[in-house]
Amino acid sequence: MTRRSIGIIVNGVTGRMGYRQHLVRSLLAIRESGGVTLTDGTTIWPEPVLVGRNETKLRELAERHGLTDWTTDLTSALARDDVEIYFDAQVTQQREKAIRQAIEAGKHIYTEKPLAEDTAAALDLARAADAAGVRTGVVQDKLFLPGLRKLKRLVDGGFFGQILSVRGEFGYWVFEGDWQPAQRPSWNYRAEDGGGIVVDMFPHWHYVLEELFGTVNAVSCVIATHVPERVDEAGQAYPATADDAAYAIFELDGGVIAQINSSWTVRVYRDELVEFQVDGVEGSAIAGLRSCRVQHRAVTPKPVWNPDLPATEDFRAQWAEVPDNEEFDNGFKVQWEAYLRHVVAGEPFRWDFLAGARGVQLAELGLRAAREGVRVEVPELRS
Ligand SMILES: NC(=O)c1ccc[n+]([C@@H]2O[C@H](COP(=O)([O-])OP(=O)(O)OC[C@H]3O[C@@H](n4cnc5c(N)ncnc54)[C@H](O)[C@@H]3O)[C@@H](O)[C@H]2O)c1
Repeated sequence: MTRRSIGIIVNGVTGRMGYRQHLVRSLLAIRESGGVTLTDGTTIWPEPVLVGRNETKLRELAERHGLTDWTTDLTSALARDDVEIYFDAQVTQQREKAIRQAIEAGKHIYTEKPLAEDTAAALDLARAADAAGVRTGVVQDKLFLPGLRKLKRLVDGGFFGQILSVRGEFGYWVFEGDWQPAQRPSWNYRAEDGGGIVVDMFPHWHYVLEELFGTVNAVSCVIATHVPERVDEAGQAYPATADDAAYAIFELDGGVIAQINSSWTVRVYRDELVEFQVDGVEGSAIAGLRSCRVQHRAVTPKPVWNPDLPATEDFRAQWAEVPDNEEFDNGFKVQWEAYLRHVVAGEPFRWDFLAGARGVQLAELGLRAAREGVRVEVPELRS
């Protein structure tokens, strides 16, 4: 059995996503499970090169995992021949510049979303990467979650008949940082630092809607900054300049209407932090991160509106759990494995920079719809 080592720069590895999801739960987990095995028996073996701004943090993090390859100098890491992939999990604003540098260095590139801060920049990156012949990918982790995989299985199996609508509820309370520290980095709440829930979440909604239900043709949206002042990591109060909630309607192919609330200012009375209810003529489903429940038309109750009486039925109990019927691994890891197969063996991988640019476009148009108070059509982006 041949082992094929592949050097991967992990830039922004000290951050929440870079460390937990990408280094620990993906690249190191891939090594723990023996690498990624190709059909010819070769195993791809990721060799992470940790890149960041803070030497002390990098050294400490590397030692914690028995790693030795780390640097604060991105340019020298990009100059190495044994490094074939550049991965970016930095704050969004730093991404474009670093990716351009990686394209110039001829590296394959995988990145967290959003790909860039605006559509023009994202599209330009997609074109530059194409011209340089490098293989690109953008994280679309939600597609690999067990709940959404089961939902996709229902769609593919024709469970819904004609799909009418999708209702998404995403969010939880992010503490303001005064009497309890916030559980998300403060840059998320400053527009000038690339923050905002639309920029953060619409790229996710774009690929979820398109992969499960169809092309997004138009968006209407109301946004709000419900909490106007927050307290940062250093205990300093700062004005929140970015949207912390978005109430959007997306119009999809086939007349499907998707309505998705995204909020960091909502308290959870749901089973999971995100849930999508899909209603079709033949049946309905509610999918979260892990679970997916269904109700077929044959077992649909016939409630009659009568506010004078207490509810006569236990509506929640009338849904059936969809069984896993397969093993679901961590979504970030599954996508990393697919990307590594794409780079090393040329296997298909459709979540590329152009797909990422479409997510950025939806965020940009969502913000425009909110700012101008209008419904905005979504033109098709081409490379
Ligand atoms: N796929 C997902 O579900 C998901 C979830 C959360 C965040 N993200 C994305 O991941 C990226 C990182 O988000 P995070 O929550 O890990 O953020 P974070 O603040 O925890 O980490 C940011 C990283 O960027 C580095 N960095 C580089 N230049 C910086 C600068 N000038 N200022 C501040 N930090 C700088 C930091 O050192 C750190 O390593 C963002 O682009 C975000 O959109 C994706």
